[in-house]
Amino acid sequence: MEKPFLLHMITPEKNISPFDANMAFDAGWDSVIPYTNIEMDEIQGIVQDTIFSRSPSALKRTGIFIGGRDTHTAMDMIEEAKKHMVPPFEVPVFADPSGAFTTAAGMVAITEKALKDKFSESFSGKKVVILGGTGPVGVASAVISAKAGNSVLLVGRSLDKAESIAKICNEKYGSKSVKGALDSDKASFLSDADIVFNTGAAGIQLMNDELIKNAVNLKICADVNAVPPAGISGIDAMDNVVAMKNSKSGCFGIGALAIGNIKYKSQHDCLKLMYKCDEPVYLHFEHAFEFAQKNV
Ligand SMILES: NC(=O)c1ccc[n+]([C@@H]2O[C@H](COP(=O)([O-])OP(=O)(O)OC[C@H]3O[C@@H](n4cnc5c(N)ncnc54)[C@H](OP(=O)(O)O)[C@@H]3O)[C@@H](O)[C@H]2O)c1
Repeated sequence: MEKPFLLHMITPEKNISPFDANMAFDAGWDSVIPYTNIEMDEIQGIVQDTIFSRSPSALKRTGIFIGGRDTHTAMDMIEEAKKHMVPPFEVPVFADPSGAFTTAAGMVAITEKALKDKFSESFSGKKVVILGGTGPVGVASAVISAKAGNSVLLVGRSLDKAESIAKICNEKYGSKSVKGALDSDKASFLSDADIVFNTGAAGIQLMNDELIKNAVNLKICADVNAVPPAGISGIDAMDNVVAMKNSKSGCFGIGALAIGNIKYKSQHDCLKLMYKCDEPVYLHFEHAFEFAQKNV
């Protein structure tokens, strides 16, 4: 009898996300097993109990998913899990804390394609401003954007916090060009931005009509917030590269549901790759972005 596909789902939080559990079943996993309130020093035990209980061939039907809310903890947990694999006793690992990696991947991939389709320009050498950028979606978006060759301002309400997170993006993930900036200064740095991402907490507007009108280089605005009011004024959640009426520069808007569609496909593809790959994979926002680029 063939062994079932088992996905061990780890989170430092008190529950795994039902969103991720549904996604895992829908991607073909037979069973998802939650491990909650997990700390870094417990990863070794979970990994070793996972790998030594099945033959290498059955391990191809076994995986570890890392959720939670924190980007850096999730990335550290991938590394910790990898450290305790004993090839050929090894399983794939995929992290998507708060769904942030796949959401960022979807948003940036649609933006990249829209720049090409609407302006015949590449997603490189642009000034990218990420409002509400200090959360998990903002951090992953910042690193992907900076690694593509853009200058990135990661914006928050505290300059110290924004700068320290920008430093982590550059030092830990090698993105080099991420800088922190203060939300209350945004009128000045938005005025010549090419691209604006809103990754702030749900239901908060961070870019109003006035800021959009004064942004003379603006080409693309993307808003991951699906809860009214729009995070960027004038973008409807359904908008999929739609001309923004409040922009004087001919900017196009991308809304949360259009982003969610690509996010969904990218997460589905990552979850599937885990049991389809010949060699174990370790997946995070950069791999999610590759899938998102194929899905737009
Ligand atoms: N479309 C999709 O498929 C999808 C999927 C997942 C998530 N989302 C959405 O993506 C967004 C970002 O998610 P996340 O988990 O990264 O966000 P988050 O951590 O909840 O918030 C991001 C940042 O927003 C800022 N913020 C919080 N309250 C604020 C306030 N009252 N005024 C101004 N700024 C405030 C904070 O930055 P500072 O404290 O540094 O200012 C925070 O770090 C949310 O809207 C979420 O609903 C969308």
